[in-house]
Amino acid sequence: MYKKLQDIDVTNKKVVIRLDYNVPMKDGNILDDFKIVQSLDTLKYLMEKNCKIVILSHLGKVKSEKDKIINTLEPVAKRLKELLKSNVIFAKQNDAEELHGLIDKLNPKDIVLLENTRTQDFPEKKESKCDMELAKFWASLGEVFVFDAFGSSHRRHSSTYGISKYLPTCVGLLVQKELEMLNKYVINAEHPFTIIMGGAKIDDKIELMNKLLPKCDHMLLTGGIANTCLATIGFQTGNSLKSKDPDIINQVKTMLVTYKNKILLPFDVIVGNTYNDEYISQKNIIAVDTNEEIKDIGIKTINIYKDIIHQSKSIFVNGTAGLYEDNRFANGTRELLDILSKSLANVIVGGGDSASAARNMNYADKFSFVSTGGGATLEYIIKEKLDALDDEEENNSEIEIL
Ligand code: 3PG
Repeated sequence: MYKKLQDIDVTNKKVVIRLDYNVPMKDGNILDDFKIVQSLDTLKYLMEKNCKIVILSHLGKVKSEKDKIINTLEPVAKRLKELLKSNVIFAKQNDAEELHGLIDKLNPKDIVLLENTRTQDFPEKKESKCDMELAKFWASLGEVFVFDAFGSSHRRHSSTYGISKYLPTCVGLLVQKELEMLNKYVINAEHPFTIIMGGAKIDDKIELMNKLLPKCDHMLLTGGIANTCLATIGFQTGNSLKSKDPDIINQVKTMLVTYKNKILLPFDVIVGNTYNDEYISQKNIIAVDTNEEIKDIGIKTINIYKDIIHQSKSIFVNGTAGLYEDNRFANGTRELLDILSKSLANVIVGGGDSASAARNMNYADKFSFVSTGGGATLEYIIKEKLDALDDEEENNSEIEIL
């Protein structure tokens, strides 16, 4: 459906490539370089073809001059240089003529990483509103556009959709791999197909759940998503994280009735107390008190979910079981990852938090695939196309604004 990098002759060409280097950072240090590592195959391919490479990426959101300083891609350029062991120049975007001069002087295989595309979102929101003049300028820096920012494939911005209107465009090796894995193991999964759906907000995921429920055999719920379902069917969930939107609750009701044979909810949970940070207790779901907050799934639930995992041939994981960043509530997430790592099923981990947990807990290399996308993974499963490259007329949707 999309033209592949291998189908375009890029030899000796100047290539503009959009990557997703939106990596977690603290005080200028990269906390997780997964997205940078995943971009290397395409960059190496372009280097082998003697291309001059101009990389564009966003990092965080830019709503002030201060954000421009905080969200600089300079540390990413350093990390990329270490990983590739090759010349990576970091360029601020200030002067168009200077930038053209710099790119003209590049040697084959040289790489320039431009400053965060979203510096163009302040004072005027250009990048995220898909300003076509900006897109035209970025396109003028190369002869071919490679789109390999899977994590941004649901964003129709100047550096994604915009550039593709001015240059011959293809998708890079990472986007190809992501689509292949999601098509094979989620959209056309082999049965029995189980989905483990967790995370904070059901509001963001109800559309995806309704899309996936007809296709799967079991959906095991955890996190804030499970809390909303439990509350909807009348369980006391105290002060647990859950949706209060009446429209969402109605949709949840319909979903629970329609798919009552596929959806499983926690039987026991780990709770904290809103007024006492020291308090932790494991209890049956019927025993949760009004002052309590569900923060993880319990052992009984883990064992029931384990049996279903072991009967499955394909598993898609999206979202964590509990507040895994707090070690006291990380057991459900860790145990499920451990069980998944021992199952014979094809396991696809899709989505920001579950992918981070899999990497932080050292399980990522045990799975068939860990997606670099967060929202993008979910959007692709729902729409089966990439907004960043599909024409507006075709899908009739608005330009995405942050
Ligand atoms: C992500 O981290 O999910 C992607 O980089 C997209 O980021 P965005 O939601 O800020 O566009």
